[in-house]
Amino acid sequence: MRIDIITVSPELIQSPFEYSILKRAQDKELVDIHFHNLRDFSLNKYGKIDDYQFGGGAGMVLMMEPIDKCLTKLIKERAYDEIIYMTPDAKTLDQSLANKLSSIENMIILTGHYKGVDQRVRDKFITKEVSIGDYVLSGGELAAAVLCDAVIRLIPGVLGDETSALTDSFQDNLLAPPVYTRPAEYDGLKVPEVLLSGNFPKIDEWRHEEALKRTKQIRPDLLNKDKNESQ
Ligand code: ADE
Repeated sequence: MRIDIITVSPELIQSPFEYSILKRAQDKELVDIHFHNLRDFSLNKYGKIDDYQFGGGAGMVLMMEPIDKCLTKLIKERAYDEIIYMTPDAKTLDQSLANKLSSIENMIILTGHYKGVDQRVRDKFITKEVSIGDYVLSGGELAAAVLCDAVIRLIPGVLGDETSALTDSFQDNLLAPPVYTRPAEYDGLKVPEVLLSGNFPKIDEWRHEEALKRTKQIRPDLLNKDKNESQ
């Protein structure tokens, strides 16, 4: 998979890709990440990329021309399956969308700043808009890093133990069950007996029940969600 990330602050988003699973995925050549600084496509030598919004109102808007130049260059070079814009005014990222995106070949992620991008960029180029939650961040960079992490860890071969992504929370619309490690007793706090029993069908059953209990308590909305529901 190739991911091109367009941003006004590359330094804000680069470091998550330099560690742990995202780094390993690149080392294994399972994903290829390219950052593009929007200022390299600016209108003048001062690096102008934004302007006041028509109609008045606080906040700058990223202009169409630099983004158009950057996107047009990339699109000429290869075919992209998705051109994604990170924005709070969009459908929220969920595991189902992460699963879908994990099997595509090439995608572009455009991150907004200030008041966002000129609507005409969205109308002309964007194939999917993604929010990471109902709150507003200072820019789309951290949101893009979240999206990339959620997607890249699902690419086959990225996680050492392939089954571990399958048992993540949300894969079956359930939160994950509790997990424990050694010691079996700490300060009088005991690990549930069943986990020490070696009876794996019973352990699976216990985990499923606990996942269900936790989901009912914390996120009952997930239980009514269609498994294949996505955006
Ligand atoms: N940019 C600012 N806030 C965001 C959010 N919640 N999701 C995606 N992009 C954003």
